[in-house]
Amino acid sequence: MKINFSNIKKAKKLLNKSECVAIPTETVYGLAGNAYSNLACQKIFRIKKRPRNNPLIVHYYGYKDLKKDCYINQDFIKLYKKFCPGPLTFILDLKKDSKISKVATNNKNTLAVRFPKHLITRNLLKDLNFPLAAPSANQSSKVSSVSSSDVERDFGRGIKYILDGGKSSIGVESTIIDVRKKPKVLRLGALDISSIRDLLKKKISFNINQNKNLLPGQSRIHYSPGIPLRVNAKIKRKDEAFLLFKKRKIDKPNYFFLSKQGNLSEAARNLYGTLRRIKDYKYKSIAVGKIPNKGLGKTINDRLLRASKF
Ligand code: TXA
Ligand code: MG
Repeated sequence: MKINFSNIKKAKKLLNKSECVAIPTETVYGLAGNAYSNLACQKIFRIKKRPRNNPLIVHYYGYKDLKKDCYINQDFIKLYKKFCPGPLTFILDLKKDSKISKVATNNKNTLAVRFPKHLITRNLLKDLNFPLAAPSANQSSKVSSVSSSDVERDFGRGIKYILDGGKSSIGVESTIIDVRKKPKVLRLGALDISSIRDLLKKKISFNINQNKNLLPGQSRIHYSPGIPLRVNAKIKRKDEAFLLFKKRKIDKPNYFFLSKQGNLSEAARNLYGTLRRIKDYKYKSIAVGKIPNKGLGKTINDRLLRASKF
């Protein structure tokens, strides 16, 4: 995609004034603001209607900038070298003299950090004097946005500017890993746990939904298309939209497919857009067929299961 530098400049100007701007990333779009500014972070919570106790992810250009705000360790460095910039979010300990807004962290002494790969956002980050707090650009607890038009639909004039970067190439959120002690995955995402395990050569624990002090973003009810959804459906009931993994030769308006060839990356890329489309077509509910539970399929199933708790 061609980079439009005047658009980046416009975004920069607004961000410098503590305004919020939607930014493209390879996973999903983010709703960004200056992570050092209480005012900008307050605006993010307000626009998203996000509960104040759900801290914000902060996006950096590179780890040189991050070092001012967080402590890093060997596991971080290994993962950073191999997978960043990319779809991996780290939980790190905040430094006492970090400038990160207390609004962003909700006064916690840890920080979720990510280094997005999307070139437009990398150019923007390189040009700013602060990192960007940017949760996914959707109304709290609903399906994430994977294009500028998704963001526009969710927020309308609520956002000052949307930096258009085309369709997100991955389409599901980053994997979140707490690397402060024994590595622990907190959210399944675009990066497969097995590739993390292969690199670190140690056990990676994965205890989603097991502790009681869950952050809202990891709660069971999330990623909802706004209508009831059931998973592992073998048959479609009357009036339901039927969402299937692999395209079949059925020419009915109420059938939707995530992938032409049965490819998990393609399915992930199409997931949120298809859920939004089904809702737009005014279906009252969705039945989803079985999706292979391996690699990215595990992430897709995780999101669908949470969506089904609506
Ligand atoms: O791919 C992504 O990660 C996208 C793009 C825009 O970067 N962002 C994203 O942000 O998905 P969000 O806010 O929708 O999800 C971030 C999750 C939330 O569930 C939040 O609770 C969790 O990260 N989180 C934030 N700070 C945390 C912390 N200090 N400890 C544990 N979890 C944290
Ligand atoms: Mg989100």
